Amino acid sequence: MRLRILIATLAALGAAGLEAGAAQAADLLSQQCVACHAITKPANASLERLWERKGPDLYYAGNKFNKPWLVSWLQNPTTLRAGGVMYAKAVKPSADKTADVIDAAQVPAHPKLSAADAATAADLLMALKVDGLVTPGAFKNEAGGPMASMLFSKLRGCTSCHTAKAGDKPTSGPEMYSAGDRLQPDFVHAYISNPQKFDAHTWMPSLGLTEADLQKLTSYISTLKEKK
Ligand code: HEC
Ligand code: HEC
Repeated sequence: MRLRILIATLAALGAAGLEAGAAQAADLLSQQCVACHAITKPANASLERLWERKGPDLYYAGNKFNKPWLVSWLQNPTTLRAGGVMYAKAVKPSADKTADVIDAAQVPAHPKLSAADAATAADLLMALKVDGLVTPGAFKNEAGGPMASMLFSKLRGCTSCHTAKAGDKPTSGPEMYSAGDRLQPDFVHAYISNPQKFDAHTWMPSLGLTEADLQKLTSYISTLKEKK
């Protein structure tokens, strides 16, 4: 009889322990990340919100990122947007006033997570998905062909805002030279076909790309990976 009570008590304690662990995990994003990131779709997606936000939106992270990249980046975050999440706030005139330079002091380092927290955060982020933003299978996974990099660098002007090579001059948009590791190709296709679908006020212009260009650009971007 005693033994049975003891077992029941231990089982109850075990379950409570597990629940506490799960609750703690679920709290990670709301305790350590929401000060800077939206993890649910903002009710008021105004220009003011975009201007004031401290980090990129994560409420569709599961539609956007590759999980292995998240696990690794969260432990060793590197700069993705040279000018921070709001470029205009970090730009200042150069000493001779002939050009704009980025004031690195305006771009703080990202918090670093332990391996365990990074794994937990990546799981939670991958579960954040929004229906209708990204179409699975939109990218046909065909080679971009010889024109793809030309489209990116010259013909469609992506390099005026995005870097395709590490060490290129810093730009206003997120760097693309690690995009093949970082982003899901179907997200890239969806984003470049209509950036305003992700945020009505985002300052990446809608470039009116044809489906053929979307496929070529997505293919090219997906090959951009950082050499380790
Ligand atoms: C003090 C503000 C701040 C906090 C707190 C913060 N972040 Fe960030 N986060 C940023 C900024 C700013 C960027 C953009 C960095 C860049 O582009 O170089 C960013 C970028 C990211 C990215 C890449 C997003 C993208 O679109 O490229 C992920 C993923 C991320 N943060 C996850 C987290 C998680 C998970 C937490 C909580 C454990 C967290 N962040 C806490 C400010 C913050
Ligand atoms: C005028 C500057 C500008 C031009 C030109 C531009 N972009 Fe962007 N792009 C941005 C900015 C800024 C963002 C980030 C927007 C945000 O966080 O709301 C972005 C975001 C992206 C993203 C999502 C990446 C991420 O990490 O969130 C992709 C993919 C992308 N751009 C690809 C392209 C391609 C391909 C082209 C050329 C066809 C292009 N962009 C042209 C400024 C630009």
